[in-house]
Amino acid sequence: MKICVIGMGYIGLPTAAVLAKNGHEVLGVDVKPEILEFIKEKGAPSEEPGLAEFVLGVLASGSLKLASAPEIADVFILCLPTPINADKTPDLSYVEKGMASILTVLQNGNMVILESTVPPGTTGGIVADMVKAKGLDNVDLAFAPERVIPGNILNELQNLDRVMGGLTPRASARAKELYSCFVKGQIHITDATTAEFVKLVENSYRDVNIAFANELARLAPEMGINIWEAIDIANRHPRVNIHTPGPGVGGHCIAIDPYFIIDKVGVEKARFLSLARDVNSSMPQEVVSRLEKELGTLAGKNIAILGTAYKANVGDPRESPALDIIELLKEAGAKTLAHDPFVKPANSSVQLTSLDETLKNADAIIITTNHSVFGEIEPNYAGQLVTGKLIFDTKNIIKPQVWKDAGWRVLILGSGKPLV
Ligand SMILES: NC(=O)c1ccc[n+]([C@@H]2O[C@H](COP(=O)([O-])OP(=O)(O)OC[C@H]3O[C@@H](n4cnc5c(N)ncnc54)[C@H](O)[C@@H]3O)[C@@H](O)[C@H]2O)c1
Repeated sequence: MKICVIGMGYIGLPTAAVLAKNGHEVLGVDVKPEILEFIKEKGAPSEEPGLAEFVLGVLASGSLKLASAPEIADVFILCLPTPINADKTPDLSYVEKGMASILTVLQNGNMVILESTVPPGTTGGIVADMVKAKGLDNVDLAFAPERVIPGNILNELQNLDRVMGGLTPRASARAKELYSCFVKGQIHITDATTAEFVKLVENSYRDVNIAFANELARLAPEMGINIWEAIDIANRHPRVNIHTPGPGVGGHCIAIDPYFIIDKVGVEKARFLSLARDVNSSMPQEVVSRLEKELGTLAGKNIAILGTAYKANVGDPRESPALDIIELLKEAGAKTLAHDPFVKPANSSVQLTSLDETLKNADAIIITTNHSVFGEIEPNYAGQLVTGKLIFDTKNIIKPQVWKDAGWRVLILGSGKPLV
């Protein structure tokens, strides 16, 4: 089949590549020429393990081609961004523009599959309406969300179960048949709106669970409890799986997807989801207030931020709570320097400096991301660079006793009084 994949980002590029590897003639489309150039030359803009070689292979074989506009095809797959606006409402403008671009070549008998995370009802609403308005009455429409995790995309893309839903049984069957060429997990078929909802529920579950952990992290110190130890023991129970607390929730999925449900039904009805969002969004302030308490004042203090990526060992800083912490510290009069060995300067909204530069003359260090390398920093080495030996680990990645023995004041999120 000839397939057009619209959007060559984290999701679209690997999807296009595995379809090309599995016998299809694929055109990868992106509006940004620099992205297409980068892919042609180096395979992949992200540092996704194995992806660059994989993409270069299918490009060389000719089964994947790249273009800046869609062409006539049998199937169109939309992998476009779906962010939220400043007021937390869904921004579906990329999906609308992507749809508008394929309508120029779409024909009856084609199939359109939406992979972007969207509010329930989008496939049967905006997408179907645009196809209908074009005068087409025989296009199969389906929703097939992506569930992969950056850092393991190629593996999960092919091995995870998928959920998908067509607007008609024929559309569902066609979507299932197409993805069966590379999905080794089970493909669960439902209606499009349920599939859209399932995708949102998966990430909302994680947001609520993290909010629960964060609430416990706020309460535990009041009772003299170390939350990390408490959660670790509670999770030994076979039916308990409490997630880990931290400085907030980042990434462009977990921190955003609940709003797609909240926006649909209203805050009054989605009380639990809204509360979880509030708890998680309040964590950066919690971290800054805790540090302020420790330092007396933040005004004029130099704070070293370790980690601007939203999670461990990846270079994606989108929605990272570290960025909110930096803003809040600045508002309180502190000066910040930030180091992240995974985030490329071109992808960073804050200036990044080397580890040494970041630590030099710092009055305190905050670990905001649990990159493994941060667990290996030598306290004696760091101690020679800083002005004040205070380390606040919001991800419980360092060995507190080792730092304490090196003369540091050690604060762990959710563990009460600092070790001194
Ligand atoms: N990244 C993930 O891990 C992940 C996981 C699950 C779901 N999702 C969802 O998948 C969707 C895509 O996410 P992503 O991370 O791949 O986004 P991305 O920002 O990495 O990529 C989107 C690409 O689309 C391109 N684009 C924008 N408008 C276009 C248009 N009109 N025509 C052609 N190309 C256009 C952009 O230039 C960009 O390269 C989102 O809805 C996201 O929520 C992402």
